[in-house]
Amino acid sequence: MQQIVHDVLILGTGLAGLRAAIGMNLRTRGNIDIGLVSKVQVMRSHSVCAEGGTGAVMRPEEGDSLELHAWDTVKGSDFLGDQDVVDRFVSKSPDEIRLLDHWGVPWSRRPDGRIMQRPFGGHTFPRACMAADKTGFFEMQALYDTLQKFSRFSRYDEGFITSLLLEQGRFAGLTMYDAPTGEFVLLRAKALLIASGGLGNLFGFTTYSQTVTGDGQAIAYRAGLALEDPEFLQFHPTGLVPSGILMTEGCRGEGGYLRNSRGERFMEKYAPKMMELAPRDIVSRSEMTEILEGRGFQGPDGLDYVHLDLTHLGAERINKRLPLIREVCIKFLGLDPITQMIPIRPVAHYSMGGVEAGIDGRTKVENIWAAGEVACHSLHGANRLGCNSTAECLVWGGITGDEIGKYILAGGQLSDAPVRQAEQEENRVFSGLLRRDGSESVAAIRRDLQSTMDQHAGVYRTGESMREGLAKIASLKDRFQRVRVDDKSHIYNTNLIQTLETENMLELAEVLLYAAQAREESRGGHARTDFPARDDVKFLAHSMIYYTGRTPRLEYKPVAITNWKPVERKY
Ligand code: FUM
Repeated sequence: MQQIVHDVLILGTGLAGLRAAIGMNLRTRGNIDIGLVSKVQVMRSHSVCAEGGTGAVMRPEEGDSLELHAWDTVKGSDFLGDQDVVDRFVSKSPDEIRLLDHWGVPWSRRPDGRIMQRPFGGHTFPRACMAADKTGFFEMQALYDTLQKFSRFSRYDEGFITSLLLEQGRFAGLTMYDAPTGEFVLLRAKALLIASGGLGNLFGFTTYSQTVTGDGQAIAYRAGLALEDPEFLQFHPTGLVPSGILMTEGCRGEGGYLRNSRGERFMEKYAPKMMELAPRDIVSRSEMTEILEGRGFQGPDGLDYVHLDLTHLGAERINKRLPLIREVCIKFLGLDPITQMIPIRPVAHYSMGGVEAGIDGRTKVENIWAAGEVACHSLHGANRLGCNSTAECLVWGGITGDEIGKYILAGGQLSDAPVRQAEQEENRVFSGLLRRDGSESVAAIRRDLQSTMDQHAGVYRTGESMREGLAKIASLKDRFQRVRVDDKSHIYNTNLIQTLETENMLELAEVLLYAAQAREESRGGHARTDFPARDDVKFLAHSMIYYTGRTPRLEYKPVAITNWKPVERKY
């Protein structure tokens, strides 16, 4: 098997991965050899889909402050965010905005020339730095352009990582199915950054690209790293029906309303102060309550909905600030939001949990770091505020890039080559999975997995329903043993990739439901009708889930509370 060696491997080329690659180049003055691995091409990373903005305190003289951003984030997290991590985050995000300004992001500007910031949910000050409604795309482009200034990186586009290998407790290598050549490759490095994004395709109705299947979480979990707080899945309040495409929170930040089938702005009842700009967990629950109590509209395939109303904003504002939203509505529904209301409902959007990582992004394995959505630094707790995600990718991309750069400068060493493990993995994939001729189609298993999660791990949950969901996942895992891979070729085998992805998704679905049914309280994005109250006595704690090969092992870890004791959340 071919072996390739670099100083550092970065798994994932979204905002966190690219920002980290620049950070380690800056720290080592370009004296670092990086392998950038992605299952897609760089500019197809899901970060390009980020729309509304990136949160940072840019106007202290106009009334914003780091303390206010920290408080909003902690309260938004339903007090599960680690407060030392929140402090670090808010103090570093303004620098990231300024760096991106220098690196070429074409921010929207105010008339006085300063970067425009729009209001976002749960923030008490307009904090989302924006480039119209295509912020992620422009940020990705600026980072990618900036990275071109450094020569020592190699790209492994369309390389699907099947396993993460340790030797004597240290990172030793990744096994990669290189789709364009059909080869199996062992990638080795002194350090690894996992920055592979989220897992939203566990759900059928999602804002995510089809490629976002939690592969980074799954390989880390199977290698023995803990997954932290996986039960906290964010439902964004405005997914376009029926596709699930994100209608950015920027729509409401620009003044958009939510209306039920009677035309009422129903958020008056649920969050009288912040209305449509309450945090996402609260707005999503309010929408579901309206729908469940019969004040929604009947949608296709059970996707009942309410309305997002932009009609009072006017053509000029919509064309200038929300051009993508208008284009998507016209292209996908033949509907013009300048004059018509948009059908929306809560949609799976973000995973607050992920691979356990400390405040510097380092995991419990000394030469593995994690950044971006795949990681759980315990920043977002039980509910993330909008525009804190792209900011998190930039902040921890920067931190981990710098830390890994220091680690390499300090003489970080390669582990022994995990050749035997890599060969076993190649056999498992090429001689095992690829040759399987069972009776089960991978597409059907994936579809059933997604509908199970939509049904049993949605906005409102109960213990009984989640345990039913777990039983369904167990039976899907059983069916997976009889999966058939129709395409037997080695080169560019998307059928094989989808099979590997589905195997990962099954693992993560079990983890999410397992942690969720054990958390007998309601907190942030985890709302249980059988345990409707938050329980700080029993559950002011992070769930930690470990792989055992059978039922996952669940432990709890304390929350870092440095400034604010939990209080009731009112908006
Ligand atoms: O609504 C949005 O534009 C999404 C932003 C986010 O998830 O932070």
